Formats: sequence, structure tokens, C-alpha cells
Amino acid sequence: MQGDFELKGKKIILRPTTIEDMVDYERWNDPSLKAFQYDGPWYKNDDNLKKLIEIRKRKVKSGLTPPYRFLEIYTTQGKHIGWVNAGHNVNDPHATEIGISIKEDQYWGKGLGTETIVLWLDYLFREMNLTRIGFTTWQGNPMMIGLGKKLGFAEEARIRKSCFVRGQFYDRICMGILREEWETKRNDFLFLENH
Ligand SMILES: CC(C)(COP(=O)(O)OP(=O)(O)OC[C@H]1O[C@@H](n2cnc3c(N)ncnc32)[C@H](O)[C@@H]1OP(=O)(O)O)[C@@H](O)C(=O)NCCC(=O)NCCS
Repeated sequence: MQGDFELKGKKIILRPTTIEDMVDYERWNDPSLKAFQYDGPWYKNDDNLKKLIEIRKRKVKSGLTPPYRFLEIYTTQGKHIGWVNAGHNVNDPHATEIGISIKEDQYWGKGLGTETIVLWLDYLFREMNLTRIGFTTWQGNPMMIGLGKKLGFAEEARIRKSCFVRGQFYDRICMGILREEWETKRNDFLFLENH
């Protein structure tokens, strides 16, 4: 285990990845999983999660240290349902992008994604010297767009017809939130500490 670190909400807990979590990643490495229909289509490759699993295992084995770049999403009942991540190109922290994937689709639409991103944004703004956090999604993902709008993300760019999914073109949508916008918005989420 990575010490006692955790970010705790009302319904979910974010924890550093352990090697035991990889059993679920292997199970999720299934092209028929509903989540793959909503993930950004530009991530698609033939081996689904295979490369990610290799990278995660390597990083876990060499030891994860804060500030964390990815965490596992658990319900407060102890069910592992997905992960969050954050990343940017080398030397380009001002364009940090986050990602979320709740692989267990029976947990969608219950506010767990909202809690996860609230905790994740709060952690990243607190622990890293970031002025803006963004994510990229696509027109065919109303859940991610709705989640972003609800948390105060602005639509910053719409790259028209740049995603081709199941025979149709969709817009790619870039959303972002500034540190000062989050500092106001976080007051809506009473489960966060240090109001
Ligand atoms: C996208 C995802 C993280 C959202 O998490 P979630 O727990 O399902 O979302 P929440 O229940 O917190 O809902 C957040 C908001 O999204 C919107 N939303 C959720 N489901 C929706 C739907 N079916 N249609 C339209 N809007 C929806 C609503 O605005 C909702 O807020 P509200 O319930 O207060 O109105 C989750 O569904 C998921 O992991 N999907 C698969 C992978 C994925 O798409 N990842 C993102 C890739 S860019």
C-alpha cells in the first residue's frame, strides 16, 4: 500500500494504485465494456488497456509518490470502479488535462463521477502550481460534457467534425476551468475540507 493517503468524499474514495488493482484492470480490458463507447475515440487502439496496464504495473512496482498523477476510484463500500488521471506534455503544465473512467457502468449517473472530479480538481489545484485544468471529450459523451458544465468548466474549443465514431462525424470538445473559478465553485461542495 502507498501509506495511508486517500481523498474521501461522501460516496467515493480515491486511493493510490496497488498491484492488486490490476486484477480489475485486466477484467476491464474487454472491448465489449460500455465505457469504451464513451471514452475519447482518439484513444482507441487494438489492444484496449494492454499498454496502460503495463505502464501502471511498472509505475506501481517502482513506487508511487505524491503528487499523484493517477488514483483509483473506490466506492465507500469498497468496490473498485475506475480511475482518474492527470497529465501534460513535458514542460507544459499549463495545459494539464484530466481524465476519468468509471468502468463499472452500473455506477454511472449516481453522482460518483461528480464527486470524483471535485476531489481530483481540489487535490490538483492544491498540490500543483496550476492555473488551469482541462479535459477533452466529444459530442457523443453527454455525461462528461454535463459533468464539466456542472462543475463550472467552460467550453474553450470545439473542433468540428474531428471525431469519426461508428460511421458518423462528431465535434471534439475542449473544456477548462481556471484556479480562481474553482476557488469559488468549490464552495458548492460541502464535503470538501477547508471551506
Ligand atoms: C463520464 C462519467 C465520468 C460521468 O460520471 P457519472 O458518475 O456517470 O456522472 P454523474 O452521475 O456525476 O453526473 C454528472 C452530470 O453529468 C450529466 N449526465 C450524467 N448522465 C447523463 C446522461 N445520460 N445524459 C446527459 N447528461 C448526463 C448531468 O449533468 C449530471 O449532473 P446531474 O445529475 O446533477 O444533472 C462516467 O459516466 C464514465 O466514466 N463514463 C465512461 C467513460 C467516459 O466517458 N469517460 C470520459 C471520457 S472523456
